[in-house]
Amino acid sequence: MFKTLFVLLVLVHTLSFVLVNSHNESGEWSCESSNSATQIVAEFLPGIITLDGHPDDWQQIAGFEFSLLPALDPHEDDAYKGGKMNVKAVHDGKDVFFLLQVDGEYAYSKGNNNKCPSVALMFQIGENATYHNMGGCKESPDSCTNKTCRGHEVDIMHFSLGTAIPGRLYGGNLVDVGNGSDRFGHLVDVYSWSPHCRYLDGLGPSGANNTAQNDWKGAWWHSSLSVHSGFVDEDSPYASNGKKGTYYFEFSRPLRTMDRFQQDAQFKIGDTSKFSAAFWYPVDDKPWHGSGHYTVSCDWLPLDFIGGGGSGLAANSRRVVISSSWDAAVAFSLLFSVVAFCLSVFVIYRASMRKDVPYTEMNRL
Ligand SMILES: *[C@@H]1O[C@H](CO)[C@@H](O)[C@H](O)[C@H]1NC(C)=O
Ligand SMILES: *[C@@H]1O[C@H](CO)[C@@H](O)[C@H](O)[C@H]1NC(C)=O
Ligand SMILES: *[C@@H]1O[C@H](CO)[C@@H](O)[C@H](O)[C@H]1NC(C)=O
Ligand SMILES: *[C@@H]1O[C@H](CO)[C@@H](O)[C@H](O)[C@H]1NC(C)=O
Ligand SMILES: *[C@@H]1O[C@H](CO)[C@@H](O)[C@H](O)[C@H]1NC(C)=O
Repeated sequence: MFKTLFVLLVLVHTLSFVLVNSHNESGEWSCESSNSATQIVAEFLPGIITLDGHPDDWQQIAGFEFSLLPALDPHEDDAYKGGKMNVKAVHDGKDVFFLLQVDGEYAYSKGNNNKCPSVALMFQIGENATYHNMGGCKESPDSCTNKTCRGHEVDIMHFSLGTAIPGRLYGGNLVDVGNGSDRFGHLVDVYSWSPHCRYLDGLGPSGANNTAQNDWKGAWWHSSLSVHSGFVDEDSPYASNGKKGTYYFEFSRPLRTMDRFQQDAQFKIGDTSKFSAAFWYPVDDKPWHGSGHYTVSCDWLPLDFIGGGGSGLAANSRRVVISSSWDAAVAFSLLFSVVAFCLSVFVIYRASMRKDVPYTEMNRL
């Protein structure tokens, strides 16, 4: 029943989410969206997610649905036609997990990232980092440094599928050490101050530092792919292009990382982070270009990390609260009846010992 309530709550949230047209003829950026009310939640639910690109294990987790509008000119008429993006998040106390779900005809072109779909997540790091312009530092490409752009850092995870086999894990690995790259599947860990000042973790305007790492992992899947023991590279394109279905992109990252240079967002249970998600798709089989992405909102979306302590919104923690208060009631009534029983035994005992006191005296006790 409480689960139904939670789902209803999410539904109301989603219904109240109206992306207001933020098109501006003058070319000035404006974002008037009431969707800042949409609070994405990452509940504490350990031990349910396997990072394999498959959505089955996410069924009990409520999702948040968003229209996908062009990032640079968020006009409703130009929304991604394939469908909405459904975003789910959950954490296990150590790692945070994300599932992005988007309807789309299967498109895969081996080795050509721009003719495959692609997704990115973006998080605020610096307190003055804006969603618009990926941090919004005003410095030019040759003057942006970690000093001139201090406070404008954003953290980005970008997954391009051209070399990634469906169902296989990509991202941080033991070979690519010292920066945020991924030579196998192009699931990279990036930070930026603005669209022109964007670097792999560990790299920057003054060169490499070799002390960073790629903290993300992820996998992708499409519902038209057949499930079996596992695809290999030579099975590409893995399914027939043009088949209707849904894309799934699944990611995880530790809540905290070893970053010391403001290149990773740090997440805290009980806190709210600022978040966005982007999607690229080869519409009409035409390769996408870097700025031709769709996003879930024209400003940051709040992402709540809910603890397992029982005071949260989470269906799971509420279940814990409910069962423990019920247990307390049972324990209390049990204690009460034991005390009452002992009391009556004591009274009867006292009454039977004191023959001089009339039996009716007992009622006064
Ligand atoms: C565009 O944005 C500017 C600055 O925010 C504002 O003054 C102007 O009225 C906006 N124009 C339209 C058509 O919304
Ligand atoms: C953010 O901007 C405010 C106001 O301009 C400034 O006082 C503050 O120092 C900035 N924060 C950082 C981390 O640069
Ligand atoms: C990132 O790290 C990998 C592995 O250590 C290395 O091969 C690559 O050259 C580095 N990239 C840059 C741009 O330094
Ligand atoms: C790398 O980081 C260290 C501090 O950890 C700093 O002393 C050094 O100058 C940096 N090197 C480069 C090339 O950025
Ligand atoms: C800024 O970058 C330089 C060079 O990479 C590095 O030595 C320094 O520690 C960085 N400062 C901060 C605050 O990250």
